Amino acid sequence: MKTLIIYGSKYGFTETLAKKLADKVIGDVKLVTVKKADKLNLKEFDQVVIGTPIYIGNIYKDVKNYCQKHKEEILASSYRFFVVGLGGPVESMKNFDSSMDGELIEHAVEYAYFGGAVFLDRMNVIERTMMKKIGKKTTFYEGINEEGIEAFAISLNGEDNEN
Ligand SMILES: Cc1cc2nc3c(=O)[nH]c(=O)nc-3n(C[C@H](O)[C@H](O)[C@H](O)COP(=O)(O)O)c2cc1C
Repeated sequence: MKTLIIYGSKYGFTETLAKKLADKVIGDVKLVTVKKADKLNLKEFDQVVIGTPIYIGNIYKDVKNYCQKHKEEILASSYRFFVVGLGGPVESMKNFDSSMDGELIEHAVEYAYFGGAVFLDRMNVIERTMMKKIGKKTTFYEGINEEGIEAFAISLNGEDNEN
């Protein structure tokens, strides 16, 4: 079984979670940043995972662009999404639902919330100010949804066992 994990990550936390997932998935796993995913042929993989953080209520722009450009190819594959954000499982997933292509959501095998973290030292002043606002408006979640990642990996590995 060949699994491709594509992730977008501005500050590195989504990358950390993508790696965490990759470590739990059995078989041949390829982990790649969305910036380098354009040339990959999704047909060469049995299952595809796309991970995105949420920024200002939206999925990460690089992931959005990738999904728009490769929509038909993604739809033709067996794919899942994972979401990273500080709004927690409710708010971040709402943001995902409203900003990801509806058809891609509809046909996904599943999508799940993996957690969120903030690295204030890596941000500029504007971003830090935004973070404070976000922290006030929504449930401020910081951490790793270990159970969610585990369940996601079991689901991916389950498909492997069935075939
Ligand atoms: C400017 C800015 C805006 C953000 N907006 C949201 C948001 O609207 N909803 C949310 O759930 N998380 C939001 N976040 C939190 C990020 O999704 C979170 O820090 C995530 O872990 C970043 O992933 P990365 O390190 O892979 O880039 C925001 C973070 C920043 C810096």
